[in-house]
Amino acid sequence: MKDLNTDICIKCGSCVRECPMNLIQMNDLPEIPETAEAFCCQCGHCRAICPEGAIGGFRESKIEGNEKFTITPEEMGSHMKLRRSIRHYSDQPVTRETMEEIFEIVRYAPSAANGQPVEWTVINDPDKVNQISSRTMEWMNEVSKGDSPIKDIMPLDSMIESWENGMDPILRKAPCLVVAHAHSENNMAFTDGIIALTHLDLALPSFGMGGCWAGILNIACNQHPPLKDVLGVPERNTVIYPFMVGYPKYQHQRIPERNQPKIRWE
Ligand SMILES: Cc1cc2nc3c(=O)[nH]c(=O)nc-3n(C[C@H](O)[C@H](O)[C@H](O)COP(=O)(O)O)c2cc1C
Repeated sequence: MKDLNTDICIKCGSCVRECPMNLIQMNDLPEIPETAEAFCCQCGHCRAICPEGAIGGFRESKIEGNEKFTITPEEMGSHMKLRRSIRHYSDQPVTRETMEEIFEIVRYAPSAANGQPVEWTVINDPDKVNQISSRTMEWMNEVSKGDSPIKDIMPLDSMIESWENGMDPILRKAPCLVVAHAHSENNMAFTDGIIALTHLDLALPSFGMGGCWAGILNIACNQHPPLKDVLGVPERNTVIYPFMVGYPKYQHQRIPERNQPKIRWE
């Protein structure tokens, strides 16, 4: 096994049990057969579980006190229930440093076979975000003149009217827009992107921030490919979803009611 420090491995078999692909075999020492190496998804679980830190040249440091799961179910519940879609943003600018801190958390989101395929475009400029809404409204105006089925799923006329009245029904005058995208040939990336965005959504409130899924822009991008260029998404990539980000202007005073979960216990 590459990266195994044979002097300190105690042959406990933790790495063998932990490998999600069952690639590691315990011979004299844990080993990955050469033919199986290509299947390693580099998830790092063998390094993370090893009690001796014998794998990987200590690339990952040992978890210390404040990195353990210390959030109680009540605290986690509050955090997740208090998250709201934010549709009114204060003038406080979003800094690149803060976004970097947030992505430092978000990059730990799970992904299929640890593929980590999601790429990001951060449009952290209120004027540019407004420009994207403006281009989307141009498309809406065109669509509203024809008989597109989009008219059945979107209240185009009221959105056009609210835009004309100085509001932004597309991106809500958010100061920052994050776009998750991935290589078009990766057909597992969509789910990974949605998961990563969900991590972003949940991380934001801990920074005093908030956001909202930009579903209308997403539909527009799917219907009108030129919008993809406006979002700064590379040619080879497909948009997974755009997401508004900023500082909430107002504080929600209560948690809105939600349906009971529909669960079948078998
Ligand atoms: C995939 C998705 C797309 C959404 N698109 C929009 C949107 O385009 N505009 C908007 O104002 N809210 C959008 N939302 C927010 C939902 O309306 C919101 O999540 C829902 O009403 C529940 O409110 P909450 O997020 O505050 O709990 C979207 C949410 C999701 C998950």
